[in-house]
Parts: sequence; C-alpha cells; structure tokens
Amino acid sequence: MTAVKVAILGFGTVGEGIFNILKEKRKQLKETLGVDIEVAKILVHNVSKEREGVDASLLTNRFEDILALPQLDVVFEAIVGEEPAYGYLDAAIEKGAHVITANKVMFAKFGQALQEKAKKYGVQVGFEATTAGGVPVIKTMETILRVNDVLHIQGILNGTSNYILTQMRTEGISFETALKNAQDLGYAEADPYNDISGQDAFKKLMILSALAFGKQPNWEDVKVVGISEITLEQVQQADANGQRYRHIAEVSIDENGKIHAEIGPQLVDAAHPLYAIDGVDNAVALDTNYIGKITLVGPGAGMYPTASVMVEDYASMLSKQSVVVPV
Ligand code: NDP
Ligand code: HSE
Repeated sequence: MTAVKVAILGFGTVGEGIFNILKEKRKQLKETLGVDIEVAKILVHNVSKEREGVDASLLTNRFEDILALPQLDVVFEAIVGEEPAYGYLDAAIEKGAHVITANKVMFAKFGQALQEKAKKYGVQVGFEATTAGGVPVIKTMETILRVNDVLHIQGILNGTSNYILTQMRTEGISFETALKNAQDLGYAEADPYNDISGQDAFKKLMILSALAFGKQPNWEDVKVVGISEITLEQVQQADANGQRYRHIAEVSIDENGKIHAEIGPQLVDAAHPLYAIDGVDNAVALDTNYIGKITLVGPGAGMYPTASVMVEDYASMLSKQSVVVPV
C-alpha cells in the first residue's frame, strides 16, 4: 500500500467537493488503486472561517506550507484567475507533484507552458474540469484524436448562461433573478462577469482549440458576445415563435490551417441539435473525419460534477503509474 499526501487550493464550491469525494471514496480508492490518499493541506484566503467537516489544522493561507509537505503527490487547484494559480502550479510541478486544475482562466493562457514543464519533470497535468464541468470532453477528445481529426467544435460551454436563459423561459423570471439563483447554486463565478459576458465560454473554447488543433486563434480576432443584453421579453417572444436563445461557442480549422472561432447567443429552432439542452447542462458537438459527429451532454457546472472529474483525473494518473508490464 502506498500512502500519498494531496493538497487542495481553494475550498469554495469545487474545493469542498474534491475534499468530500476524497473522504467518501478513500476506502474504495485504496482497494482499487492500492493508494491511501490523505488530504494534508487546504489553501484558502480566510483561515479563520469555519469549514464544515474540516479540521482547522488542515487550513493555510501560505502556499509554502503546501510545498513543504513530504510525499506531496498532487495539487488540486480550484482557486480563481491567472495568478497566483499559475505560479503555484508551476512551483508544485518543480517539486515533482502532479497538478489538476478547474481554472480555465489560468489554463487557457498557461496550459501549454504547464504541460511542457510537467513533461520535463515527469509529472502529469489534469484539466478535464476546466471545460464543460462534469462532461468528459477532454478525455473523449484525447482518445479520439489518437486516430481522428477534429474538424469543427460547436457547444454550449457556460452552465450559468444556459441556466439563466432556461430559467427566464420556463419560470418567466428576470435575468437578474436567474443570475442570483445560479450564484446560489454555485454555478456562477463569485464575480459573474466572465459567465455573462461570454469570456468564460471563450476561455473554454480556447482550451478545446489547443487540444483539437494544437493551437489557438489570436484572442483579439475572436468575436465574444455574452447573454447580458437578452431581455425576458425577447426570450418569451422567441418561445412563442418556437425558438430558443442558446449561447453557442464554435471553433474550426480551415484548409490553410487558420482557426476560426466565435462565441455568442443564437436563436435556434427545434431542429437545431442544441435546442433541447436546458438548465445547467453543457453540450459539445465534435465533427470528426472518421467517426462523424459526436455530441456529449451533461452538467456544465456545480460542486460534484466538477469535483468528481478532478478526482477521476487523479485516479487515471495513479492507475497509469501502477501499470505493471509482465515480462
Ligand atoms: P469559489 O469562489 O466558490 O471558491 C474559491 C476558493 O478559492 C475559496 O475557498 C477562496 O478562499 C479560495 N481562493 C481564491 N483565491 C485564492 C488565493 N489567491 N489564495 C488562497 N485561496 C484563494 O470558486 P469555485 O469553487 O466556484 O471555483 C474555483 C475554480 O474552479 C474557478 O477557477 C472556477 O472557474 C472553476 N470552476 C468552477 C466550477 C463551478 O461549478 N463552480 C465548475 C468548473 C470550474 P476563501 O474561502 O478563504 O475565500
Ligand atoms: N461558472 C462556470 C459556468 C463554471 O457556469 O459554466 C463551470 O466552468
């Protein structure tokens, strides 16, 4: 039996979910992977705030305490923004730890640098949770890209926007009330600007572009529009006409290798594949050369969908390490 120590950066919606799942599944992961996973430190801003089920000695607001942990095997990152998140993960990799992130703002910009650094240090980077919450789009793409080319990606990538548009249509409530509900449910960011301006979907689309095409377009060339200008009256009028607003992100590559990307609300009718995607669900439709079209649908935000794919990332890392090739 191997004993490992893990650290969690952030104890908000996602960080708490990771902590709870690692606790609940400790015995199962011990039995299936032969690894005893102990959460050894949790980084937060406010160490005085009481966190349910958490021994106060686990909390720190000093990243150095995390780097100082002996047997540190992985750092789960669920804080907000580019920095200090990137610096923390960069340092964790240098210390020989795997890193697993939900932070798409950081990863869209620094994902490639982190992956290159991880390769150099012989560790792995998990980023399934950065894009489409609990929908396993990253691992699906990594698998199909071994043989297929992805030609075009179209999706709903922001759970908050889809939830708001759905609530306005089905409950007849205002944009502001629907946004408040999305915040209460932990779907929206603490500062919801990125959600409703389209920036959150943009960062996720850039992560998918890098994975599918090995590069991103120039960020300044991408038209990004959010849902904040859509009124209840417009949503209701569309509904009366048999149409729905969907916040759609699209990226493709042309024959000259140029990437085209666009993000914004579209009015779709019942024949459109994204018409029926309601609530916090995300959807990602991949057009590929051999398979054809694949569409993945599921919860795009929320505590357990997001945290569970991060723990899955870690379980895959552990099972890769424990593969024994018979001779
Ligand atoms: P929250 O705002 O709920 O929680 C953020 C946590 O991080 C808090 O515990 C906060 O500490 C801590 N924190 C933030 N910055 C720092 C810092 N510089 N140093 C130490 N602690 C810090 O965020 P979420 O859990 O919702 O999201 C976390 C990340 O996951 C974000 O990058 C988000 O985009 C991403 N994500 C979120 C999803 C969701 O459904 N919520 C889904 C997929 C990805 P304190 O508690 O003391 O304030
Ligand atoms: N705020 C994000 C959303 C969380 O609503 O999609 C998931 O990345």
